[in-house]
Amino acid sequence: MRSKLVIILALIVAGLLVFSALAEDTKKEEAPEYDYIGAKKCGLKPCHGKDGIMASWEETPHATAYDDLTDEQKADESLMKFYTTGTTKKGDVLTGVQCEACHGPGSDYKSMSIMKDREKAIANGLLMPDEETCKGCHNADAPGKLGESAEGFDFAKMMEKGVHILPYSDEKGE
Ligand code: HEC
Ligand code: HEC
Repeated sequence: MRSKLVIILALIVAGLLVFSALAEDTKKEEAPEYDYIGAKKCGLKPCHGKDGIMASWEETPHATAYDDLTDEQKADESLMKFYTTGTTKKGDVLTGVQCEACHGPGSDYKSMSIMKDREKAIANGLLMPDEETCKGCHNADAPGKLGESAEGFDFAKMMEKGVHILPYSDEKGE
């Protein structure tokens, strides 16, 4: 009788341990807090269509990075973290290095009232990218041309060469 009780207790304890381990696992795999919305939405007329950021980004190799791949490369899953931005809630894959690849998913900071206030935007998921952001992709582990660009990566030079215009910092003379 006693030993049965011990076995039952042991089973309960084991069950709890497995359960908490599983709970820990799902916590790690939780979906990102914010959703991707896509560059088209960032570049709407009243938004970054008006200030010229959208148009200047569209001219960079980032905008067309995915389109420029061969069909074989497009089928290579391992390239996607460098050549795509993320997936929208609806399930559309955002191709190329779009705004949100550097600035973070925009579902919660996209509205004009939040975006007007940079601090508020940052509290809602906006990232102001720096050299480390670039090196998330421009690193030696990256394939082909991208990996080569990591060697001696010069942030200032690379910013000038192709991200987008910086109309607001220019105004402030920064
Ligand atoms: C999500 C990945 C990703 C991030 C983040 C990223 N890039 Fe890129 N970048 C690319 C890809 C992909 C290409 C196109 C490479 C190719 O031709 O295959 C590229 C190309 C470029 C190019 C043109 C090619 C060259 O080497 O001159 C510049 C300039 C550049 N990136 C600058 C930057 C800067 C500056 C940052 C950070 C502010 C940055 N990138 C962040 C993926 C990224
Ligand atoms: C490759 C990375 C990258 C991509 C892609 C990118 N940005 Fe940026 N963005 C930056 C960096 C770096 C800065 C400068 C951050 C700073 O000043 O500290 C910046 C600054 C900005 C600013 C502030 C401008 C200013 O003058 O201060 C805005 C607004 C902005 N980005 C919007 C966008 C929009 C909209 C898109 C897409 C159409 C986009 N960004 C795509 C890297 C990127």
